[in-house]
Amino acid sequence: MTGTVKVLVTGAAGQIAYSLLYSIASGNVFGKDQPISLVLLDITPMLGVLEGVVMELQDCALPLLKEVIATDKEEVAFKDLDAAILVGSMPRREGMERKDLLKANVRIFKSQGAALNKYSKKTVKVLVVGNPANTNCLIALKSALTIPRENFTCLTRLDHNRAVSQVAIRVGVDSAAVKKAIIWGNHSSTQYPDVHHATVNVGGQELPVFQAVKDDAWLKGDFISTVQQRGAAVIKARKLSSAMSAAKAICDHMRSFWHGTAEGDWVSMGVVSDGNSYGIPADLIYSFPVVIKNKSWKIVDGLNINDFSREKMLQTAKELVEERDMALEFVSESA
Ligand code: NAD
Ligand code: LMR
Repeated sequence: MTGTVKVLVTGAAGQIAYSLLYSIASGNVFGKDQPISLVLLDITPMLGVLEGVVMELQDCALPLLKEVIATDKEEVAFKDLDAAILVGSMPRREGMERKDLLKANVRIFKSQGAALNKYSKKTVKVLVVGNPANTNCLIALKSALTIPRENFTCLTRLDHNRAVSQVAIRVGVDSAAVKKAIIWGNHSSTQYPDVHHATVNVGGQELPVFQAVKDDAWLKGDFISTVQQRGAAVIKARKLSSAMSAAKAICDHMRSFWHGTAEGDWVSMGVVSDGNSYGIPADLIYSFPVVIKNKSWKIVDGLNINDFSREKMLQTAKELVEERDMALEFVSESA
């Protein structure tokens, strides 16, 4: 369909998708005037549930939603895509470590990477959400050699939003008052939420977060562990992983990718490391602060990194190297 943006959501019968699809279909992500063709992929046993989701989308009577395609077939789902939001995978349950998920999920992302390569537009923008998101994204990228590596990203915007919100609550301001937070590294408990470069607007005055919070021990202690452990805390409380906040973060990420970042701010995004940024090894999907223009991201460079931060940035990189090496072993076993 000309003039429409064709968007795939995988895991479309799952709980994140249920919170996500309305936002996409109503124009909250790709633009209030942008017609959408929505493709929904899930596994065969979920087709019945998916049918219910399609009915509900129809019942929303959304003027921008021109087409809904529900399928369990990759060759249908990945055809001619402009954007792919890869949510579908096995979610972590209470007590499970994210690495436990690696084996099952690597297989899915290898296959979907190959399908992107074969059927989608070369300009397709890919957002991987299913955990372990960074490594799944790397596996998809490595299975899609004809699509630019820069088109592959993973979700750390939820962590970014969590960091912003924790600071805003502490200072007693709106979350919009907090700018330039950073999530470095893996979307896991080793991630490093960093507010050394962040500012907060208090009564019209832009202050460094450390100055506004006036509690270095909290910023270097409980703030970091709260953000790192937030996913696990939500699972413990809900007995399900986060869905509403994950869907909101997916919309924020894709909107930034599509329309660019705001002047004077940046966003956190898992992107392919180039080996030249902040001492992080190449060939990882690592979360960096990025600015985006014309659908191209650029890592924010030149930030001053102290020893406290450097150690944490390298620690999460080390975990990603281990995850990558394990995942590549699983990939070669399944080849
Ligand atoms: P869910 O179990 O409710 O839904 C997952 C859906 O994916 C199910 O409908 C399942 O049938 C489907 N699925 C499984 N294999 C598939 C495949 N090969 N192709 C297409 N669909 C497939 O889970 P959820 O709560 O929606 O979470 C989805 C994923 O997102 C999990 O891996 C979760 O850990 C992850 N997550 C990531 C973040 C993040 O910030 N990166 C945040 C929250 C959740
Ligand atoms: C989250 O950050 O909420 C999720 O990634 C938690 C999880 O591990 O599924």
